[in-house]
Amino acid sequence: MEISMRFPDTGTSSAVAPIANITNTFPQSDCFKDLECLIGLKEIKRTLAEITAFSLVQSKRTALQLKACPNVLHMVFKGNPGTGKTTVARILGKMFAEIGVLGRGHLVEVERADLVGEYIGHTAQKTREILKKAQGGILFIDEAYTLAQGGDKDFGREAIGTMVKTMEDERNNLIIILAGYSLEMGRFLQSNPGLRSRFPIHIDFPDYDAADLLQIALLMYQERDYELTNRARWKLNNYLNEFCRTRHPHSGNARYMRNLVEKSIRLQALRIVDRDNLRRKDLITINENDLPLPEQITR
Ligand SMILES: Nc1ncnc2c1ncn2[C@@H]1O[C@H](COP(=O)(O)OP(=O)(O)O)[C@@H](O)[C@H]1O
Ligand SMILES: [Mg+2]
Repeated sequence: MEISMRFPDTGTSSAVAPIANITNTFPQSDCFKDLECLIGLKEIKRTLAEITAFSLVQSKRTALQLKACPNVLHMVFKGNPGTGKTTVARILGKMFAEIGVLGRGHLVEVERADLVGEYIGHTAQKTREILKKAQGGILFIDEAYTLAQGGDKDFGREAIGTMVKTMEDERNNLIIILAGYSLEMGRFLQSNPGLRSRFPIHIDFPDYDAADLLQIALLMYQERDYELTNRARWKLNNYLNEFCRTRHPHSGNARYMRNLVEKSIRLQALRIVDRDNLRRKDLITINENDLPLPEQITR
């Protein structure tokens, strides 16, 4: 996995010492714990620890009238659907609010249709409204590359222009994250050098492997007060190994797991709904027959 953190003035990658444990370094708050609780994403957790440590130290330096490095925190999240981009962005907003970099830390998640209007002037107006809503937090633009897909006359370009202007005018208290498929985001930034230099932090979200997907599914069951029998766990493990060998990039990753978990919960309900005297054990147990067939799961 490639993780790059580039800061505009130096153009160099960061070489920050490894941070062993995020919770030793940072406040013992819920959002930092939420980040740690996410399955896998080891590199991403470390990169975020670096970025938050950096921001925290820069604000402490400013308070003592020391020179602070440019603290440009706009980011690009590259990865397939369901790899945790939105989840991480939401937690990141709270982390930045906690360390005082953002006033509110809320997440405003939008896509092309929320920014682009239907006539001249409409796009700038829509985009400005969204930017205003995101002030103090994170503006997360999903599938951001679609803003450049319509050619020169497309209003998507007007949305980019408006966004860049706001970024210049209001430097503080807003972080913009552009998210989307790796390849498309790469091309999009390549063709927009102005944009590229304004988004110095790039984070790659790799597809989860079978072991991570299993852990994600188990966590989802646990959060919903369900548990798998040993046989069900074994069957799911085998299925996920096969799934990862043959999967398509659009296959959904963690979101696919959520669909699988929710479908199995409905199938279990169907199995037990007519029974009398249901005990706690019956209500929480998912057995191997409750696991849906692959074709029953929405991707
Ligand atoms: N590492 C993880 N650990 C636990 N759950 C995860 C993880 N990554 C994603 N999820 C869950 O999977 C679902 C999809 O994740 P999301 O952040 O929406 O993906 P993306 O924005 O990349 O499409 C969410 O319900 C989220 O909570
Ligand atoms: Mg998302």
